[in-house]
Amino acid sequence: MTEIKSDGSQSQTVLLAGATGYIGKYVCETLLSRGFHVLTLGRATSKAQDHHNLENISIDICSDKKMAEFAQTSRQIDAVISCLGSRVGGRRDAWAVEFGANQNILTLARSMAAKNFVLLSAICVQKPKLEFQFAKIAFENQLIASGMTYSIVRPTAYFKSLAGQIENLKAGKAFVMFGKGVSTACKPISPQDLSDYICDCLENTERYDKVLPIGGPGPSITPIEQGEMLFRFLDKKPKFSRVPSAIFRIISTMMAPLALISEKISDLREFVHIGHYYATESMLFWDVTAQQYSSDKTPEYGRDSLEDFYHEVLKSGLEGHELGDHKLF
Ligand SMILES: NC(=O)c1ccc[n+]([C@@H]2O[C@H](COP(=O)([O-])OP(=O)(O)OC[C@H]3O[C@@H](n4cnc5c(N)ncnc54)[C@H](OP(=O)(O)O)[C@@H]3O)[C@@H](O)[C@H]2O)c1
Repeated sequence: MTEIKSDGSQSQTVLLAGATGYIGKYVCETLLSRGFHVLTLGRATSKAQDHHNLENISIDICSDKKMAEFAQTSRQIDAVISCLGSRVGGRRDAWAVEFGANQNILTLARSMAAKNFVLLSAICVQKPKLEFQFAKIAFENQLIASGMTYSIVRPTAYFKSLAGQIENLKAGKAFVMFGKGVSTACKPISPQDLSDYICDCLENTERYDKVLPIGGPGPSITPIEQGEMLFRFLDKKPKFSRVPSAIFRIISTMMAPLALISEKISDLREFVHIGHYYATESMLFWDVTAQQYSSDKTPEYGRDSLEDFYHEVLKSGLEGHELGDHKLF
């Protein structure tokens, strides 16, 4: 559907996958506020807002057959944004969603002659060790090889990922961190800043055919600094609980034999590996030459600060920023 805007230009149609997710919801609102016509595809469209420029199609994106049938409908799309991500994080779901569903979206985009594809990926794929990271990279490579104009956005940690312990601290519990809480760091980004960055990729030609690591306004922050900041805002004496990250390795080793015969345990073991990854790896640009993470080389974007976000959550709660299955504590 192409609509004529008040200035006489045609509004572009963007196909959005993952519109019901944390970032996808912001992207949907940002696109609508910028006058785009938005066509969302997904299994749960009921939560999406009511807007004259928004059309929700309920479809199983993981089904090659359903998606091929949909491709037969005569629709015109100008661009695609995918904010898909596995809700479960297990091995099979990671490949089904991060790779399979995105592949179906790419096939659809090409059959509908979309001009460009903006993919929300993650900065952690630069140092892949986990199944979902391998699935993300496999799709990134397909997209790059497809010949379609692409922008692959690889953000650092989201604000919400640094908010999982707030309720515990309010209840008087200690801030849990791995080791001394200084061996990892990130430059967190707010959902609105990230959404603006993603939507800008549609028209900013400097971001075409690029892999784009991106962080918030900085500076980078370590876990102990997060804890100290929260205790300061709560006006409480800092209390830390230090957990050795080796705990994940021990649990993984114990689970190894059973993981060979049970897919459920294999998935649980994968979650343990995810825990170990986030306890030991920074969400910053990985400098291959120096073989270390670089805060300075992690590009910064946006205006929203983690301090303001923490103040807001302490005042109004975490509604809208829930961590879901990704919660570690
Ligand atoms: N958390 C972080 O700090 C962080 C940092 C950098 C990058 N990332 C990456 O950013 C991406 C988006 O994150 P997010 O927090 O916005 O994700 P999210 O809230 O979990 O949303 C995921 C989206 O994917 C859809 N989806 C999942 N499985 C599906 C399936 N089988 N069929 C159809 N749709 C499916 C969900 O639809 P339903 O509503 O139907 O489930 C939802 O719209 C992820 O790829 C994540 O890895 C996260």
